[in-house]
Amino acid sequence: MHKDTIGTVLITQEQINAKATEIGKQITEDFAGEEIVLVGILRGAVLWMADIMKNVNLDTIIDFMAVSSYGAATKTSGVVKINKDLDTDIEGKTVIIVEDIIDSGVTLNYLMGYLESRGAKTVKICTLLDKPEGRRVDINVDYIGFTVDDRFIVGYGLDFDQRYRNLPYITWLKEE
Ligand code: IMP
Ligand code: MG
Repeated sequence: MHKDTIGTVLITQEQINAKATEIGKQITEDFAGEEIVLVGILRGAVLWMADIMKNVNLDTIIDFMAVSSYGAATKTSGVVKINKDLDTDIEGKTVIIVEDIIDSGVTLNYLMGYLESRGAKTVKICTLLDKPEGRRVDINVDYIGFTVDDRFIVGYGLDFDQRYRNLPYITWLKEE
């Protein structure tokens, strides 16, 4: 059994759903008449991706990528490994990356460059959470659900050691 304890509820499912409706409308307006590709980043973004995609009223293709950072603890490499690549040809397309949380910005900075190198016309970012205090790479984030303090967040897709992804709200992990 694991012994971690979680804190109070920071963001409820209702708040997240309302925010997804708002951002979905904004994306629909911003890309009116265009086709878009939503790229969800596994596994953390699954619930947020589902919320966003059903609120986007555009010609939409969805795809997923899975990535992991090399030496995340060292916080220096900035090297990201692709564990599952796109199945979609994004040449000339408008791509919106749908991510769970931006901390240092290293993962998204790498992904943006990667998707541009695959020929995307535009690459935008839609994140459920932003932790600006952790930022090490300057990155322009287009759509942000909620800004959170610099603590370890779990729930609504976000994990600690693969646990807590199924919690239907955002909370945080208490240190022992
Ligand atoms: P970045 O490259 O430092 O921006 O880290 C982004 C990735 O680290 C996210 O996609 C998450 O998987 C993970 N991450 C960062 N902060 C948290 C957190 O508070 N809880 C859970 N995962 C996190
Ligand atoms: Mg992640």
